[in-house]
Amino acid sequence: MASLTHFFLLSLSLLSLFASSSNAQLSPNFYARSCPNLQAIVRNTMRQALAREARLGASILRLFFHDCFVNGCDAGILLDDTGSFTGEKQAFPNLSARGYEVIDSVKTNVEAACNGTVSCADILALAAREGVFLLGGPSWAVPLGRRDSRTASQSKANSEIPGPSSELSTLISMFAAKGLNAREMTVLSGGHTIGQGQCNFFRDRIYNESNIDPSFAAARRANCPRTGGDTNLAPLDPTPNKFDNTYYKDLVVRRGLFHSDQVLFNGGSQDALVRSYSSNSVLFFRDFASAMVKMSSITPLTGSQGEIRKNCRVVN
Ligand code: HEM
Repeated sequence: MASLTHFFLLSLSLLSLFASSSNAQLSPNFYARSCPNLQAIVRNTMRQALAREARLGASILRLFFHDCFVNGCDAGILLDDTGSFTGEKQAFPNLSARGYEVIDSVKTNVEAACNGTVSCADILALAAREGVFLLGGPSWAVPLGRRDSRTASQSKANSEIPGPSSELSTLISMFAAKGLNAREMTVLSGGHTIGQGQCNFFRDRIYNESNIDPSFAAARRANCPRTGGDTNLAPLDPTPNKFDNTYYKDLVVRRGLFHSDQVLFNGGSQDALVRSYSSNSVLFFRDFASAMVKMSSITPLTGSQGEIRKNCRVVN
């Protein structure tokens, strides 16, 4: 009897070992049978959105980054607050996050073709890739099979997403906490080759910092006064609708917009890499694509964890 129990326990633990290791596996082919047109649907919907407003490609990329850094890429950021539920949308770093309606449209179109099959977390991962690609950046195979969270964490969104006044050491350690090394941090910061930023995030830099090109600082001050105009926008690099290596070229000439951008090229450990990306966009694209795959794999929910949300804004 004892050996029978033993056998039973052993097979149970082997089973769970197998289940958990296979669960942890994401695969680009995850929906090959269950939703064969998924990637085309996401691309077409993103194409329509970007034709309306190119910046949305950038906004979706940022949404994805902010999703992955809080409890992994689980679409937690997409959940709306309600009377009885506090999500991540009102966390400080997410107050200027945008593009939620685009994810709603992609989800609607995906649901029409493949009802109840594709998670919001996977849709966000695919939409972020398409945004980058449609703005001229690299493409990559997105590992799929994430499931959607039933929870979110406003406090982690406040403490685990780096802010624009971060020092290099802080950026390195906050990315390391997510399993991303300094090189991956520096290449992912290249996401700032697209999109816009608000005056209140770079005011201190353009008025008080010395490692800044004076004519750049003067130009930015024109639309970002010392007081007021907090939400006035400036492009993150001179070609905000083009995914290219201009961001790094700018850093080399002290034209980074945020303090957290310029610390990547300020006499520290990332200088050489920034120079390489500034002169080699092929290298930048290749490293960016592989770092995106790695970021997109931060602690996903898989297997029977979480759920496939029907509406990305609410738990089923
Ligand atoms: C390294 C640490 C990072 C910091 C401190 C940071 C900070 C910021 C800030 C303050 C903004 C401006 C938000 C606003 O004014 O509305 C911004 C925008 C943006 N960030 Fe980051 N970010 C970081 C890393 C990343 C990463 C890793 C990605 C993606 C791979 C990314 C993608 C973007 C994009 C695309 C925008 C423009 C969004 C838009 O135009 O709507 N950022 N970031």
